[in-house]
Amino acid sequence: MMMNKWWLVVVVVCVALVVGSGEGFDFKEWELESEERLWELYERWRSHHTVSTSLEEKQKRFNVFKANVEYVHNFNKKEDKPYKLKLNKFAALTTQEFKSLYASSKIKHHRMLQGATSRASPSFKYANVSDIPPSVDWRAKGAVTNVKDQGRCGSCWAFSTVVAVEGINQIKTNQLVSLSEQELIDCDTQENQGCNGGLMDLAFDFINNKGGISTEQIYPYRAVDGRCDAQKMNSPVVSIDGHEDVPANDEDALLKAVANQPVSVAIEASGFDLQFYSEGVFNGACGKELDHGVAIVGYGTTLDGTKYWIVKNSWGGEWGEKGYIRMKRGVEDKEGLCGIAMQASYPLKNSNTNPQHSSSHQPKPKDEL
Ligand SMILES: *[C@@H]1O[C@H](CO)[C@@H](O)[C@H](O)[C@H]1NC(C)=O
Repeated sequence: MMMNKWWLVVVVVCVALVVGSGEGFDFKEWELESEERLWELYERWRSHHTVSTSLEEKQKRFNVFKANVEYVHNFNKKEDKPYKLKLNKFAALTTQEFKSLYASSKIKHHRMLQGATSRASPSFKYANVSDIPPSVDWRAKGAVTNVKDQGRCGSCWAFSTVVAVEGINQIKTNQLVSLSEQELIDCDTQENQGCNGGLMDLAFDFINNKGGISTEQIYPYRAVDGRCDAQKMNSPVVSIDGHEDVPANDEDALLKAVANQPVSVAIEASGFDLQFYSEGVFNGACGKELDHGVAIVGYGTTLDGTKYWIVKNSWGGEWGEKGYIRMKRGVEDKEGLCGIAMQASYPLKNSNTNPQHSSSHQPKPKDEL
């Protein structure tokens, strides 16, 4: 029974992205009127995003850019959807590239061969929670750090894990501490595969087994697979006591969990509309081929009655609503929009203490681990 979940699990391999920065990028309809104008728009976008490529590549990229501009423009103009798209740093990538450039199927294969080694937890501590507020925003409660950027590395699983651990740590200790994705990428390598993907549940297990996780400040993000800094790994700053899985395909159960803490989830994120999502409540299109780890940090309902999840992404602050996306909640599909209810999990933290609170971080003997 528990095997089933793991046999069917689609490992989160992440949709990773291209380097870029800056704020949103706007264009006017007249800029699409001729090839020349489009080229000017492309140059403007390029300088905005400091893209450097060869001349030949530049022409190729222009063609992709043109198609994307057209898609975004037509969508915003013609589609009667509750969300909008925008040209962002991904505007010169085809959606296939967006999906596959940095995603790897290796880990999926790996998991299939290995079968079920990680236990799906049968217990769900929020099963009987009945006091569910109409809306929750963990950002407003100070439990969410600034939006981060995974860059050209399929490490979404590490970011997703860290959001949930940062959240429960703030809830328990009242301290918001930005934690280290890089430690997970470098050190949690038994089954997880750094920039080639991983699973949040395995990362929770790793953090629990190591007695905690280091901070962003001590073990900063580099967006590449690196060698594990054992000294930092063995000086954990924030600890957890395991994790639980939210019962799969049950948005009501997911709501109970999110009402109590930020929750790690996997979604399918490789479509055009997510690539260029700008604002509003996203209601598709997407499928359920889970390929990206993110975290739900709240929920609410719009004035017109549309229910949504507040989802923190790791594609930088320029994407979406300052790095976040609101995704439709309570859809007909029991798996949730983009499969958001299929693989949700959260860390457990029983106490309000951590291994150490001071800034010192001498290595502690952890030989038994
Ligand atoms: C929820 O309630 C049921 C029925 O009373 C009980 O068997 C179960 O242990 C409870 N679960 C939790 C997590 O408290």
